[in-house]
Amino acid sequence: MQKLFLLSLLGLLLFSCKHNPTMVQSHKHLIADTAMVVSANPLASKVGVQILKQGGNAVDAMVATNFALAVVYPRAGNLGGGGFMIIRTPKGTATALDYRETAPAKANKDLYLDKDGNVIEGLSRNGGLAVGVPGTVAGLYAAWQKYGQLKSWQKLLAPAIKLAQNGFAISETEAHRLNKYKNDFLKWNPDNKTFIRDRWLKGDVLKQPQLAQTLQLIAQKGPKEFYEGKIAQAIVDKVTKSGGIIKIEDLKNYTPKFRKPIVVPYKNYRVISMPPPSSGGVALGQLLEIVAQYPLKQWGFHSYKTTHLMVEAEKRVYADRAKYLGDSDFYPVPVDSLLNPAYLKQRMADFSLDKATPGSAIFAGYFQLHKESFETTHISIIDKDRMAVSCTTTLNSNFGSKVIVDGYGFFLNNEMDDFSAKPGVPNQFGLIGAEANAIAPHKRMLSSMTPTIVTKDNQVFMVLGTPGGSTIITSVFQTILNVVDFDMNMYDAVQAKRFHHQFLPDYIMFEKKSFSQAVTDSLKQAGYKLKQVKYMGVVKAILLRQGQLEGAGDTRNKDDDVEGY
Ligand code: DON
Repeated sequence: MQKLFLLSLLGLLLFSCKHNPTMVQSHKHLIADTAMVVSANPLASKVGVQILKQGGNAVDAMVATNFALAVVYPRAGNLGGGGFMIIRTPKGTATALDYRETAPAKANKDLYLDKDGNVIEGLSRNGGLAVGVPGTVAGLYAAWQKYGQLKSWQKLLAPAIKLAQNGFAISETEAHRLNKYKNDFLKWNPDNKTFIRDRWLKGDVLKQPQLAQTLQLIAQKGPKEFYEGKIAQAIVDKVTKSGGIIKIEDLKNYTPKFRKPIVVPYKNYRVISMPPPSSGGVALGQLLEIVAQYPLKQWGFHSYKTTHLMVEAEKRVYADRAKYLGDSDFYPVPVDSLLNPAYLKQRMADFSLDKATPGSAIFAGYFQLHKESFETTHISIIDKDRMAVSCTTTLNSNFGSKVIVDGYGFFLNNEMDDFSAKPGVPNQFGLIGAEANAIAPHKRMLSSMTPTIVTKDNQVFMVLGTPGGSTIITSVFQTILNVVDFDMNMYDAVQAKRFHHQFLPDYIMFEKKSFSQAVTDSLKQAGYKLKQVKYMGVVKAILLRQGQLEGAGDTRNKDDDVEGY
């Protein structure tokens, strides 16, 4: 009996060793006075706070949190992807940092077409040809060089290196994601021992010794190693082996760009967001300007009138996106015209409160969205001096192209799918595009990522952003309205149900319980089709009101986490 007891005690001990007891709890809601980090994983948020406590500013914390996410959130946190950051200094200057991937020099507008001019399904989404030239390492370095306070670059990578070396206990969602994509991992990386297991379980320890070494190289030698050194060569080798066309020159030529952010007024607020090559800032600005002309508060949250107005605004804005938005270094995106209040007023001239605006020919189309569940990730940070950073970063799909750089342990993006492979043919988000977003060498693919900072009386008021592909823009839009027009606190604004219309496909996507039965009936009567989806957007946001920070993670992701002090 005693033996049995000892044996089961031993079993229990072994079990708890395998299922690492250091599994960290996440918090979705926090009030604090000094500084705050919200990200998709508690280990990463804690890294951000640790850097802030060591005297780093919001940019230092952002860089460190990003590297940590590349370890603990490999489906979207990344070295092999790209992203955007909005940075606002304590003095009130705002900058947009663009470290979006670029098309390789050998790419051309027909890259994904067969000899009859039809899009070859999947080519822009999986394997080497889907990979854009990664921008993350150069982007994070540029942010730190220009705005960082800590002198040591190595210090910013140290926590991530430790997490990769020692491993960490994976969450249930992480285990689920790793299991779900096992066959894709196997297809492109048959020999990979790190990510491929019979079955991952919650609490299993994920150790990434190769990634730890890669991070160590970047810590010691800076981005040069990634863009010109051994890591660069390994990227090229693996991409080539997987059917892609990235050459060492593409990596050498990669440059992140500081850009002028989009700044638009909304009521007593100013909204600062991402310019092209993201459509986020322009689209968000258009939506806010349109709805500002109507009494939303009086109409009420998710009432028929409010929903109908927002949907009609969204249809027009996404139609504009499809036609006019792309990389402004390659195509003359008419940003000012698109944001011009007179233009937007005229755009809504045929809006009627009773019915859905009848579609033009293009409305007739109906496309099924691609089945894959999408991932990107967002980080919001405010530091003690009220420097604010909003950063959205991605590999595009979960684990990007699923291609892992052999020997170096990180995933490469499949961002090339964000280009318009052929005018009018939808990408995985059902988004269409035209010449503005056609593929060209070195061009950046159009994005929907919308890292945003809202100010009031020249002070930071809100920092927010989200993953969600095409629904990013409307999720950010709704979260702002929830606070500004519907008087919600940050937490409720983030948890509130969401809906979305992107012109094509021609239906309102909505989360369960978004609308009352009466509102649903009225929307149908007005001529709308409705489609329920599991969820959209996973917003991470901080509100600064009366000197207090209120952070909110999204309950849509179990691992979303706010840390602060
Ligand atoms: O840049 C974009 O718009 C997309 N690549 C973002 C992908 C995304 O949000 C996937 N996740 N949820």
